[in-house]
Amino acid sequence: MQYIDLMKIKFEKVLKKEAPVILAIESSCDETAASVIAGEKILSDVVASQIDIHKRFGGVVPEIASRNHAVTIPNIVEEAMSKAGKTLEEIDLIAVTYGAGLQGALLIGVSFAKALSYAAQIPLVAINHIRGHIAVNYLIYPEIEFPYLCLVVSGGNSAIIYVKNHTEFEILGETQDDACGECFDKVARVLGLPYPGGPEIEKIAQKGNANIVFPSPAYDSTSINFSFSGLKTAVINYIHKNKQNAKEVNVNDVAASFQEVVFSGIVENLTKCYKIKKVNGIVLSGGVASNLALREKIREAFEKENVKVYYPPLKYCTDNAVMIAGETYALIKNRSISIEDLDLDVNANLDLGELRINEKA
Ligand code: KG4
Repeated sequence: MQYIDLMKIKFEKVLKKEAPVILAIESSCDETAASVIAGEKILSDVVASQIDIHKRFGGVVPEIASRNHAVTIPNIVEEAMSKAGKTLEEIDLIAVTYGAGLQGALLIGVSFAKALSYAAQIPLVAINHIRGHIAVNYLIYPEIEFPYLCLVVSGGNSAIIYVKNHTEFEILGETQDDACGECFDKVARVLGLPYPGGPEIEKIAQKGNANIVFPSPAYDSTSINFSFSGLKTAVINYIHKNKQNAKEVNVNDVAASFQEVVFSGIVENLTKCYKIKKVNGIVLSGGVASNLALREKIREAFEKENVKVYYPPLKYCTDNAVMIAGETYALIKNRSISIEDLDLDVNANLDLGELRINEKA
């Protein structure tokens, strides 16, 4: 029997299982990650971060990221299986991130997943990374009710999304230029802080005063979009101007002022969204959502409105494979997923709204 025909038969059985065992693989940027879940139960979560490798370049170098994924991925998958106490015979489904992200980095995960699927004869599915950031919350907080607002703030995305259900989304506002995390990283670099800049800025901001005025990323009171590039330029200009005038720059104050204007802008736009769409909950996701000052600001703004705010544990804010497994399980429950053949390709610019339904499989 042809590979794909056998996979179709196996996949139909997986869809009927109460708690399918899913092996998820993520390699879209600089984290090589694998996880095994059984239904809603997280059995393992392994992440190999390349941060130390990219630190000296001040950001992720795509070619170096791909090469390191290629070296690391077999061990990471093996470790995830062993920590979960599962053999390949016990895995029902392989799920892999196919976009959005760095083309070469994605290719390593997708190629590995295809090879493993073929060799072990396990059905393969392709998962959208941004949806994974949202869906990890379903494993942690099964009580989340639709519809809700999701704030996605990461190194590649900044958006406020009205989530109607597992497969229907409406982007209410999004960045018109840089992503929020990207802005943190760039500002950190001009402040002389290492990559990734977000946690470093958070640390020194605690020692500073928010006494410098920078332009808000919620730049237009009539829209819900963000712009981070003007803010980034304003911070760079502030530092250069002071240096030219031989004035000392208090980096703690710059970090505190920058963080304050970013988070006030986010809360301002979230508040606008909440006025338009009265939802029961707000869900946070993405690397910047691990910032405790942002969490506090959102809590302050929405607790009085009796809106339930869901904060993913810090380790699930940044890239991991549990989020890919979580999205897979959510799609299985909704019967909104199809298997892939071995011609699966990556899509570096995949949109949040794109759900991969493979017509051929
Ligand atoms: O979600 P993530 O790991 O990668 C993407 O999918 O993009 O997010 C990484 C981004 C980086 O830009 C990093 O600086 C930022 O999240 N970040 C933070 C914090 N921790 C990570 N930004 C602000 N405060 C933090 N504590």
